[in-house]
Amino acid sequence: MRIDVDNLSFGYDYRTVLKNISFTLQSGDFLVLIGNNGSGKSTLVKCLLGINKVPEGKIYLDGQDIHNFKDWLRVGYVPQKFDDFNYEFPITVNEILNVTKFSKVDNDQKLQLLDRMGILKLQNENINELSGGQLQRVFITRALMNNPKLLILDEPTAGVDQENVIGFYRIVNDLNAEGVTIILVSHDTKGSKTNMSHIMNLDEGRAKYINVCDLDFQEESE
Ligand SMILES: Nc1ncnc2c1ncn2[C@@H]1O[C@H](COP(=O)(O)OP(=O)(O)OP(=O)(O)O)[C@@H](O)[C@H]1O
Ligand SMILES: [Mg+2]
Repeated sequence: MRIDVDNLSFGYDYRTVLKNISFTLQSGDFLVLIGNNGSGKSTLVKCLLGINKVPEGKIYLDGQDIHNFKDWLRVGYVPQKFDDFNYEFPITVNEILNVTKFSKVDNDQKLQLLDRMGILKLQNENINELSGGQLQRVFITRALMNNPKLLILDEPTAGVDQENVIGFYRIVNDLNAEGVTIILVSHDTKGSKTNMSHIMNLDEGRAKYINVCDLDFQEESE
């Protein structure tokens, strides 16, 4: 999916959080979003997801103003945390995935994803009996279910053990190689070993946008 952001500013109440952000990502680009706590990373991804409402003419997904965009099933999202999720609700891993399921995803594909995420054995477990890292892997699986064209990952591997982090980024890199656009919020650009093509550093809501192919930057960062 192609993304165009045109001079986007956004704030909550009186305070401006994002200041004049513009960028373009082509299908198959891989953006890593970095920046200090509170710099606006989650705010920006929520704008791209339509959770934060922006004025018309600011964000285009596949050339369409986000206000008219309809193909949300093909946008996978792993939120930073699940504060609004009711853990007490009696629901199994399978049930969560089935309510998310897009009709094109067959059962074999779902089982394969569960297996790749190392949670195949947990499919009939109640989600309130899972550890934090296991639950995070369920939400990652959910984001991957609908063959996304755009995958937005807000610190997706917080609490996930190293072995599963590696497995997860292998899947993300494979999807990216197939042309899926990836936006990853991460504090660790080196450790995740991603295929990143761009880095954006948010500094108090202002973006410093860097193409990874730019060798000057890579030398500077060593
Ligand atoms: N729903 C909200 N209402 C009001 N202010 C908010 C809301 N969400 C975030 N903010 C404020 O916007 C600023 C940016 O927050 P944001 O969550 O986007 O930062 P972040 O870069 O994702 O930080 P972190 O690295 O801690 O996840 C912060 O000052 C925060 O307090
Ligand atoms: Mg955040």
